[in-house]
Amino acid sequence: MIAKKDVPPDSRYLLMHPRHTVLVTCVDKEGKPNIITLAWSTPVSFNPPIVTISIGPQRYSHKLIEDTREFVINVPQMDLAKETLFCGRNSGRSVDKFKATGLTKEPARKVKPPLIKECIAHLECKVVNRFTSGDHTLFLGEVVAASVGEGFFSERFDVRKLRPIFHVGGDEFITLEGER
Ligand SMILES: Cc1cc2nc3c(=O)[nH]c(=O)nc-3n(C[C@H](O)[C@H](O)[C@H](O)COP(=O)(O)O)c2cc1C
Repeated sequence: MIAKKDVPPDSRYLLMHPRHTVLVTCVDKEGKPNIITLAWSTPVSFNPPIVTISIGPQRYSHKLIEDTREFVINVPQMDLAKETLFCGRNSGRSVDKFKATGLTKEPARKVKPPLIKECIAHLECKVVNRFTSGDHTLFLGEVVAASVGEGFFSERFDVRKLRPIFHVGGDEFITLEGER
């Protein structure tokens, strides 16, 4: 038996990490895009397909999503760990994250925020509801279009190929091991 120790409130959320980490794109009212790194996102409905993302109100992306009510969840792989950390440590208020990271914008099919070309999958979302949850806001987005890299997904991801990013805590990321 493993002896259990108490976990203080500040780090309790880390008991639910490592978490699948995504790059969410959004736009301001003029269409200028931003990128935010999120570890807190999850599907919440099959039909219609709805996902939720949890964003602190102090984030610039929070304002953009409140204003324009659209976002895209882009799924990065481990080759984008550096860019993922950058987008999670810098604000779009003071830096153009597309320029700074060299990530490439691609038009989405159904929403204004762009896709990030280097990511393996994209879920285009329109906000259908929002809730305040403690010190974050849950934005519920209906997935109105989605796409994935050829050869990576048939009914589900091929986890022998996929190298998703999981956030452990701080600056630490891990991925799947591939062939098992
Ligand atoms: C790995 C990682 C995961 C993060 N997850 C979240 C999250 O789920 N929700 C959130 O509000 N911020 C999260 N952040 C923090 C934001 O990404 C960060 O504050 C970002 O600089 C906000 O950018 P913005 O001001 O351009 O919106 C995370 C940061 C990192 C590095």
